[in-house]
Amino acid sequence: MAQQTKFISIISLIFISLYLSISLPSVAAAKLDTDWHTYSNYQDIITTNLHLDLRVDFDKKQLVGSVQHQIKRINPKVDQLILDTRDLDVHKTEVYDGTQWSTTQFTLSERDPVRGSKLTITLPSSAKSVKIFYNSRPEASGLQWLKPIQTAGKKHPFMFSQSQAIHARSWIPIQDTPAMRVTYTATVKTDPSIRPIMAAKNDPKWNDEGVYSFEMPQAIPTYLIAIAAGNIHYKKMSKQTAIYSEPEYLESAAYEFSDTQAMIEATEKLYGPYRWTDYDLLILPPSFPFGGMENPRLSFITPTVIAGDKSLVNLIAHELAHSWSGNLVTNATWRDLWINEGFTSYVENRIMEEVFGKKRAIMEQALAIQDLKKEVVDLPEGDTILHVSIEGRDPDDAFSGVPYTKGQMFLMFLEEKFGRQNFDKFLRGYFDKYAFKSIDTDNFLIYLDQHLLSKYPNKVSKEEVNNWIKQPMLPANAPNPTSDAFNQVQKNMDAWLANDLSVDRIPSKSWTVHEWLYFLNNLPKDISLDRLKELDQQFMLTQSTNNEIAHAWLLINIKKNNSAVDARLEDYMVSIGRRKLIVPLYRALLDDSSRHNFVKKVYAKARPGYHPLAQGTIDGLFKKAKSK
Ligand code: BES
Ligand code: ZN
Repeated sequence: MAQQTKFISIISLIFISLYLSISLPSVAAAKLDTDWHTYSNYQDIITTNLHLDLRVDFDKKQLVGSVQHQIKRINPKVDQLILDTRDLDVHKTEVYDGTQWSTTQFTLSERDPVRGSKLTITLPSSAKSVKIFYNSRPEASGLQWLKPIQTAGKKHPFMFSQSQAIHARSWIPIQDTPAMRVTYTATVKTDPSIRPIMAAKNDPKWNDEGVYSFEMPQAIPTYLIAIAAGNIHYKKMSKQTAIYSEPEYLESAAYEFSDTQAMIEATEKLYGPYRWTDYDLLILPPSFPFGGMENPRLSFITPTVIAGDKSLVNLIAHELAHSWSGNLVTNATWRDLWINEGFTSYVENRIMEEVFGKKRAIMEQALAIQDLKKEVVDLPEGDTILHVSIEGRDPDDAFSGVPYTKGQMFLMFLEEKFGRQNFDKFLRGYFDKYAFKSIDTDNFLIYLDQHLLSKYPNKVSKEEVNNWIKQPMLPANAPNPTSDAFNQVQKNMDAWLANDLSVDRIPSKSWTVHEWLYFLNNLPKDISLDRLKELDQQFMLTQSTNNEIAHAWLLINIKKNNSAVDARLEDYMVSIGRRKLIVPLYRALLDDSSRHNFVKKVYAKARPGYHPLAQGTIDGLFKKAKSK
């Protein structure tokens, strides 16, 4: 009997420990994971409000001025304010005791390749605010300075910031962590022929003095602080939306993005109020390294999506969606990026369904999932985990489609299991509960358990959730959307390949950009050059003005070593700086040693026009190719 009890207790111990090892955090909301990517002592003291006073100096490629931090002590004994910086020149630090400013000491530590240099400022107990006089350097990782020739108008220079993930510190000494939020005001001075703009409340009119004021009344994480300056004009589109851009893009952008107001209204209906007043778009020069960046009130957008037919506006749905997932509810550390991007990709697709219908939404899901499945094959296994480990690494180096599309698929899976109505209610509650807060993966899992898994029991197990979040690759039961439209395209492709359908009978007249992308992405690897030529003659693909189609087509031709498209390829790679569109082209060219001379020549011409981020990524590819 005793033996038996012992046996049972051993068995149950094994089960309990097995259960614990796969189980999710089960205590009530745990403390947030610490952010490895900041040096700041944000656990002891936080900045609550910033005031920036900056001058944009295009000649020196510098932002010059000061930042004032209003501080709040969490630990009353704290006697230092530690800030993040990277490649900043710090001239002087001051503290304010409520009546006057006085100089205080600071030290700037040696530069760490990932985190930059820690700025330690001595803090008397009477200090209420801290002011740092500094300038950014021309090589600031978070800024790009463009010559007039790199702009649409060719007459005025242009500059812009890209602070996500850890680049705000290259232009502001700051506690650069998404675990913490600040409000801010700013005064920005420029030459009067230039107009600065920040992702904040402002008067859209130009003024003669070149002095502009900004205010961000909602508390935001620092990676959302954003600035740009150039020949930037304004065109209102609707009640809450407008375009800021060089005059050359104003009209085409206002046409392309005219559905933005409808997108806001669709999202509000699903997930609650838009809490940022206006939603404007800043159209950047083509060297912008991303498709878009969700800077609050003013998303930064690449001009490469102005296709003329609204075919690529899911990008706008995406950046707008961040006004809920990301800007409102924020990842607490960069290993929780999927909480920003996965939710946003899911919400983006729901917006697309509301505004453009189910057929398009499903095509976009299917394309994204196909891309992800191709991508994960080449990723280190650890990087296919949603709750990825990135300690010691630059978040930029761990960037992939995983937090986006695997995250989206996880939410699609939950929607499927719990039903759309229940899942929508859950999401809406989540946005309300965590509005203006940061959350990490484990705390999300606790919330998920309380408000979905346990509320509707026996639909999804903790183990299944654990698989999605903490295990590599894709679960076997991952959603697999089927698009009838794509099935049709596949049939036509098969018939053409089997010579049962001549190229001029492929019913492409009715195809949207999505159907074209499916067609191109699914051509057989061993397709002959003659067949590619046949397609090009019929459909003028090399000359396509749709940048996604051109990208897919050029990539196929690189892989087939078809130098007939080289002139177009060179033009494409020199004129576009969006990483997602150019990096795969470089990678494919570098994979083929017979193309090394060509790709070196193209990069020599293109590199000076690229953003530091794109330069870094592509320099890395060249280094890797050389060491092979
Ligand atoms: N926030 C991202 C861009 C980003 C992510 C910058 C991580 C730095 C670090 C933005 O919202 C984004 O995801 N852009 C995508 C849009 C696409 C998925 C529709 C892009 O730029 O391609
Ligand atoms: Zn995003």
